[in-house]
Amino acid sequence: MLEVKNIEAGYGRSKVLYGVSFSVPNGGLTAVLGGNGSGKSTTLKALAGLVVPAAGEILLDGRRVDRVPAHEMAGRGLVLVPQGKEVFAGMSVEENILMGAYHRRSEKAQIRRDLDEVYGLFPRLVVRKKALAGLLSGGERQMLSIGRALLAKPSLLLLDEPSAALSPKVVGEIADIIRDLRQRGLSILLVEQNVSMALELADEIHVLREGRVAHSCVNGTNVDLASLQQFYLGASPMPAAA
Ligand SMILES: Nc1ncnc2c1ncn2[C@@H]1O[C@H](COP(=O)(O)OP(=O)(O)O)[C@@H](O)[C@H]1O
Ligand SMILES: [Mg+2]
Repeated sequence: MLEVKNIEAGYGRSKVLYGVSFSVPNGGLTAVLGGNGSGKSTTLKALAGLVVPAAGEILLDGRRVDRVPAHEMAGRGLVLVPQGKEVFAGMSVEENILMGAYHRRSEKAQIRRDLDEVYGLFPRLVVRKKALAGLLSGGERQMLSIGRALLAKPSLLLLDEPSAALSPKVVGEIADIIRDLRQRGLSILLVEQNVSMALELADEIHVLREGRVAHSCVNGTNVDLASLQQFYLGASPMPAAA
């Protein structure tokens, strides 16, 4: 589904990514872990066309997309749920969700069905659909951000730290939703600092450190929470490669 080959990217003259490679198989869930400033969001921005890579290739369904502008990526099936759970605070929950369908706004009946599907996934949003989005809790804002992305009909969903700043209970709810989306056939790239969430959900895990993939492993083979956590926090040498 997605192949990222050796991408280098940054902002102006400051380089952030130094040759990042990984893939997301069709219907698979790949996680990228890394500490603050390791380049996780920059990687997602490069995939979404918000940052143009200086080198490397990004292939979506076998086709190069690394020069495709951001506003065309949703139409190609790649949709980013950005970090920060940002919502249009002065608009209702429903208006916020519908913003996700902006690029296909002529498909009114289909959008209605997709909206109902989002409400099916997030019953908490149903009761709050007329409320101002600015009044939502952090967990509800994360659900809203995912719901909005789903209205764009992605085949590949990029999630930037969906568990950040949420209580363990709400993190569990978000994890259940991600698992559910995956079971519905979505391919998912999950960027996280939450190691246990990645271990719970992902098939493959890549650890980003200072703009490089410092370690990659297939979940369920040679990984365990303690060693991954230690490695990712920089507290121990790299575990054996997968
Ligand atoms: N818009 C920007 N302009 C300049 N530098 C940026 C910008 N966004 C991020 N950076 C820098 O890029 C590096 C990686 O940031 P980022 O990809 O956001 O990391 P992460 O998401 O892993 O925390 C950091 O050093 C950060 O300061
Ligand atoms: Mg980030």
